[in-house]
Amino acid sequence: MTLDRRSLLKLGGAAALVLTAGGGTFLMTRTPNRALAPWQSAGNGYADPRLQALSYAILAPNPHNRQPWLIDLRREGELTLYCDPDRVLPETDPFQRQIVIGLGCFLELLSLAAAERGFAIEIVPFPDGQPEPNLDARPIARVHFRAAAAAPDPLFRQVLERRTNKEPFDTSRPVDEAALEQLAAAGGGALAVQTTNETKLVAWLRQLTWQAMKIEIETPRTYLESIRLMRLGKTEIEASPDGIDLGGPFLETLSKLGLMTRQSLADPQSTAYRQGLDMFREITGTAMAYVWIKTPGNSRLDQLAAGRTWLRLNLKATELGLGLHPLSQALQEYAEMEPHFGAIHSQLGGSGQRLQMLGRLGYGPEVDPSPRWPLETRLQEAKWPKRPKIRRSSRCSTRSASSNNCPGSALKECCRRASRSLTSASSTISRGLEANARRPIWREPFR
Ligand SMILES: Cc1cc2nc3c(=O)[nH]c(=O)nc-3n(C[C@H](O)[C@H](O)[C@H](O)COP(=O)(O)O)c2cc1C
Repeated sequence: MTLDRRSLLKLGGAAALVLTAGGGTFLMTRTPNRALAPWQSAGNGYADPRLQALSYAILAPNPHNRQPWLIDLRREGELTLYCDPDRVLPETDPFQRQIVIGLGCFLELLSLAAAERGFAIEIVPFPDGQPEPNLDARPIARVHFRAAAAAPDPLFRQVLERRTNKEPFDTSRPVDEAALEQLAAAGGGALAVQTTNETKLVAWLRQLTWQAMKIEIETPRTYLESIRLMRLGKTEIEASPDGIDLGGPFLETLSKLGLMTRQSLADPQSTAYRQGLDMFREITGTAMAYVWIKTPGNSRLDQLAAGRTWLRLNLKATELGLGLHPLSQALQEYAEMEPHFGAIHSQLGGSGQRLQMLGRLGYGPEVDPSPRWPLETRLQEAKWPKRPKIRRSSRCSTRSASSNNCPGSALKECCRRASRSLTSASSTISRGLEANARRPIWREPFR
């Protein structure tokens, strides 16, 4: 990432000071190489075909880059995939629906990488049952490796090039029908994949995704969840290569000048906060087309399947030179989001179908890969019974209300009540940040 000249000029003397005191060296050394190393080491030097495939699977897209995968390799010829309970998103993903989608992306990537070496994998999803309404200690999948049983998939060629493109897209470059058809076909046909580049619908979705983004930012507890996961600058990114990485020379300069801190990003009166909002508005406003995935229900199997399909779409978009950017806010299950959740399901859902993923499409600038924890840190012996349980969603206190199928077109009343009481009890952003400062957020995944 290069330092944006216009932005630098706006910063004036202060930036010049930081950059000349160590200037060139500072710019040259801001790439978090250690955090990006898994992109270089994927596929290199693994005799065990499971590790070989896993070294690619950890590059899968996943919500907030939490990398919730934990792998147990103790049984020969197979692996067991678990969700790390420390890596869920209780506020924006209260039923771990998106986390399971991310694990579906992981499994599809595992499958493509194994096939590249001739191994077919047999995936047994939720071998001990589907956890509802929240994930628990039970495995997400058991995966068996069978030698000499699979042919490579051409999409695999895109794995190391794939990105989530969060930049503004080129509004002078439409996305044509042919590209959209190829994209939808890449999903494999198991799930309903739909697309649009129709002017009116694109304009409606631009507006809706922006409004939904605003809700997430203006709701203290959901925004605080993101603030906690921000990694500001190289040192933080390398210490915790997950979450929302705000790196590169420009952002790091702002951070070093004290112009971008967690406090300023969280403070609605600050320039950093307002510029953040403007940036999101610009980004959502440059969508040139959309793609979405629907499932007939909202079971854990539906969610895994949606993830597998999303990974294929992301790889196909890469092959087509298209930027793809999920915009999940309007699909999220908390009370403040209800109007947008209802509106988007009425517009795109149809006959009780559940929207699992929505992404904007367009032609954008090249973007850097995002950080990853090394594979070794995601392997563990199965210690689940001793690990703490995943925190139950605070949205719904009763089992029925927190059903993963809540809501259909609207959130259930008790879900709303639970959320209201949580909102009133929830601390303000600044109180939360104080608490956060006392909490070690740069934790190693295993202790
Ligand atoms: C289920 C799911 C939901 C996501 N939602 C969003 C989103 O709302 N906004 C966004 O910018 N990225 C979203 N992402 C993309 C992740 O942030 C991204 O995959 C992660 O940061 C890793 O980056 P990479 O895909 O470039 O490797 C989502 C990804 C998944 C799998």
